[in-house]
Amino acid sequence: MYSPDITKQLQQSTASLLQQLNEKEIEPIQLELLRNVLRFHEYRYYVLNDPFISDYEYDQLYKALEKIEAANPALITPASPTQRVAKGLGNDFKKVQHLVPMLSLENSYNADDLIDWDRKAKEASGLTEIEYCVEPKFDGASISLIYQDDLLVRAATRGDGSEGEEITTNIRQIKSIPLTAAFSTYGISQIEIRGEVLLSKKNFKAYNDQLAEENLPPLANPRNAASGSLRIKDEKEVARRNLEAFLYHVGFVTMSATKSTLYDVLHTHSAALKMMWELGFRSPEKEKKICKGIDEVIAYCNEYEQKRDTLPYEIDGMVIKVDDLLLQDKMGMTSHHPRWAIAYKFKARQGTSKLRNVEYQVGRTGAVTPVAKIDPVAIGGVTVTSISLHNQDFIAEKDLMMGDTVLVERAGDVIPYIVKSMPELRTGDESPIIFPTQCPVCKSDLVKPAEEAVWRCINYQCEAQIVERIIHFTSKDAMDIRGMGDANVRKFYELGYLKNIPSLYQLPFEQIRSLEGYGAKSVDNLQTAIEHSKKQPLFRLIYALGIRFVGEATAKTLANATNHLLDIANKSMEELQQMEDVGPRVAGSIFEFFSNSENIALLQQLEAFGLQLKNEQKESTHDGNLNGITFLFTGTLPTLKRSEAEKMAEEQGGTILSGVSAKLNYLVVGEDAGSKLEKAKKITTVKIISEEEFIALLKK
Ligand code: IVH
Repeated sequence: MYSPDITKQLQQSTASLLQQLNEKEIEPIQLELLRNVLRFHEYRYYVLNDPFISDYEYDQLYKALEKIEAANPALITPASPTQRVAKGLGNDFKKVQHLVPMLSLENSYNADDLIDWDRKAKEASGLTEIEYCVEPKFDGASISLIYQDDLLVRAATRGDGSEGEEITTNIRQIKSIPLTAAFSTYGISQIEIRGEVLLSKKNFKAYNDQLAEENLPPLANPRNAASGSLRIKDEKEVARRNLEAFLYHVGFVTMSATKSTLYDVLHTHSAALKMMWELGFRSPEKEKKICKGIDEVIAYCNEYEQKRDTLPYEIDGMVIKVDDLLLQDKMGMTSHHPRWAIAYKFKARQGTSKLRNVEYQVGRTGAVTPVAKIDPVAIGGVTVTSISLHNQDFIAEKDLMMGDTVLVERAGDVIPYIVKSMPELRTGDESPIIFPTQCPVCKSDLVKPAEEAVWRCINYQCEAQIVERIIHFTSKDAMDIRGMGDANVRKFYELGYLKNIPSLYQLPFEQIRSLEGYGAKSVDNLQTAIEHSKKQPLFRLIYALGIRFVGEATAKTLANATNHLLDIANKSMEELQQMEDVGPRVAGSIFEFFSNSENIALLQQLEAFGLQLKNEQKESTHDGNLNGITFLFTGTLPTLKRSEAEKMAEEQGGTILSGVSAKLNYLVVGEDAGSKLEKAKKITTVKIISEEEFIALLKK
């Protein structure tokens, strides 16, 4: 999509636009450049999963574009990156006709089915071997997109295959789908492309966590979450779900005058995937394989089934397509499916088991979650023995009784789910599940506001809650203290080493070293990881505090809106609500957190231990000859400790960044520098210097 040269140019433009933003405003004359730069970064982030700039920098550029457009409304175009969430467009969800029916696929379940299908295909074509394009079968909701003169003009759901619902505005929220794509360079004036909208496993989990916080029932699997998301009336909510899309099929084309048929431009399905990829779509260009003959197909399907769990999104099989488009035409279709393609479905991820017991777990917010203990059942290579039942209503809805036979599905990566109970198999020995009235850990009475579904322990000092809060604080997306993990937190708490979050920074390492099973190396690593966490950027600390309703996105908003975390304590409810995506409920929770003097004391303690409560992304307030200059240190420096070097830079007004981006001025490298150095080499504006050169800079 972007050649190395253009990539370089766009990086330079990014650096220069960010530089201008630092000094003054971006001029309207640079509007198109700014749009192209934003499109490029959307592509790096959403299609390639390899961003060059931080979210903060992207937001700064995006806001600059919004500002220019607000001052010059006549210059707004429908394909501007700001127009994904355009006011007044709305989805009308009206029924629209598919110009070519959206067919389904025939299914196959094993190698014999595929061999059979290949034999028929060879007979029909008269060939002795067929080339197939094999790609993942994405488990989401299928969509149809129409581009007219390079602009996205209509998006629709599959519906019944001949008629779907119009969902253009919702589809515009998916950032990996370009609003404009240069099909005209292929001689195409109008094209319908098809694909699948999905929710990654990570975003699915985050979405279910959010539902749980709001006491709403969880969604069963990412597929349901994706198709539900496409029908939401509020497009901002759709944007928040972070949907993704893979495009894998050209439905029909109208060629411009110069070319008469698509075949003039493309001869194979794989070339169509390549075209979409080149035009900035996420097509399975990297995931697909051209297989000569059915044996290669079977081998590739098996290979993919093995790595199914390592993928960031759900797939439920593979799709095998005859690659040659003329041959596809010749083979034709039935009223239900094309004859030139077949789905190979992976083994079902369901099983039945018996519900033996229900245990009750207390989370960090005090929510009490019932967890079913079932007879071990192997589903998709994993043995399931424990399944969350979410809340009391879920137990009632699923009509669950102790001793019931239950149907279990393992949706997502590891999240097992009870699909239903099977009352028809009851013997009379089953008994009702009785929800406790007291906290199973601290024995205080549980409470449940009338409008909520979750019973809570409201004793903030409940041991279970304290431990869960510490676990959350150390977790990967929070402070990322590697080597700690749930088990160590529980153990150190039991031993009295951990009492609260700040005690993480006062662990008695000498005593830990003498514990059985704790090798010197692993304790050293843990100590380093804890030390390292002090430098985590502010948004991670905010997220790690586990303030109710403050997920990663809100944590970033809060971090960007403040110079120092404790400043938030001075903000009123009204001021909090002026922040993006902060409504009354979230603001209320933040306000409550910062009104509690114990929480303020906790933050002061953390700051005293050296944690980052300042917003390092904002300009440094120190005076010195490094004012406004950004640094990042990587590798082992010859004489200075990294923390010392950072302090020296900051003392002279420098700012330490958390990652390599176009905003970085100097990367100071020591021995064994890794990916940061590699990334910096790609950005021409970043100067790569040694410790010696860094010290010289300080002295200048
Ligand atoms: S091709 C005319 N390719 O699976 C051929 N479909 O069970 C159109 N699907 O309705 C379909 N991944 O929603 C194709 N790589 C892929 C796919 C795929 C998922 C879905 C699609 C289809 C359903 C059939």
